[in-house]
Amino acid sequence: MTSEQLREKLEFYRDLGVDEIYRREYVKPAVVDPPSVVQGAPLPAASVALPSLAPEGDTLAKIRQDIGEDCRRCRLCEGRAKIVFGSGNEQSGLVFVGEGPGADEDASGLPFVGRAGQLLTQMIENTASKEGISIRRPDVYICNVVKCRPPENRAPQPDEMEICGQFLFRQLMAIRPKAICAMGSTAAKAVLGTKDGVTKLRGKWHKWRDIPVMVTYHPSYLLRPYNQDAKREAWEDLKKVLHFVYD
Ligand code: URA
Repeated sequence: MTSEQLREKLEFYRDLGVDEIYRREYVKPAVVDPPSVVQGAPLPAASVALPSLAPEGDTLAKIRQDIGEDCRRCRLCEGRAKIVFGSGNEQSGLVFVGEGPGADEDASGLPFVGRAGQLLTQMIENTASKEGISIRRPDVYICNVVKCRPPENRAPQPDEMEICGQFLFRQLMAIRPKAICAMGSTAAKAVLGTKDGVTKLRGKWHKWRDIPVMVTYHPSYLLRPYNQDAKREAWEDLKKVLHFVYD
C-alpha cells in the first residue's frame, strides 16, 4: 500500500468516527469474481410478495397520501409516533433503502437521522467528494422497507415487509432511479426477494425490475466495533454506486 493509499484509508476511518486503529497481521483475501450486473435476474418473489403494478402517473405525494395519516395496516402502528416515508431528491438517480425507522426517525418523521443516519451522510458525502462527484445527501433519496418503527428495533417481520413493501415498490417505480442501494439484509430481502445474506450479495450488481441494485452493509452494522473489513467493503460498494450513477 502506498503512503497516499494509507492516508486515504486513515481519512476514511476518521470520517467514520474511528479514532483508534490497531495493527494486525495481514491476511490475504480470497480471490473474488469481478463484479457484474446479473442480467435478467428474477423479479422479487421469494419471501416478499410482488407489488401490484403502480397506478398510472403515480407520484410520491400520492403514495404518501395512500398510506394515510394513521396507517393501521400492520401491528407496527401500535408503537410508532411518526410514519417515516422518505426524504431527499424525488428525481434522484439514486435511492438508498434501509430497514425501518429507529427511535430518532420515529420521533422526527425523517429517515436516517440518528447515529446510523449520520454515518450514512458522512459516507455519501465523503466518498462523493473524494471521488470528485459533487453530490450531497439531499441529492439522493432515502427511504426504508417499513415506514413505522419496529418495537425494540427488532427486524421487520415478513408480513410487515409485505404490507409496507408495496409502498416501497411504488416509491421505487415513481422515482425510477438509475440505481438502488439496498443497505442490510432486510432491504436486500425486500428488494431482491432473496434469502441470501449481505456478505454473499454485496459488491455485485443485481436487478429490481430493470433497475440495477447494489447491496451493501447497513450503516448500523458498520457502527459496531471490529467491523473494519465491512467498513472498507461498504466504501468500495458506495464508490461503485456513485460512479455508476453520476459519471
Ligand atoms: N435504520 C434504518 O434502517 N433506517 C432508518 O431510517 C434509521 C436507521
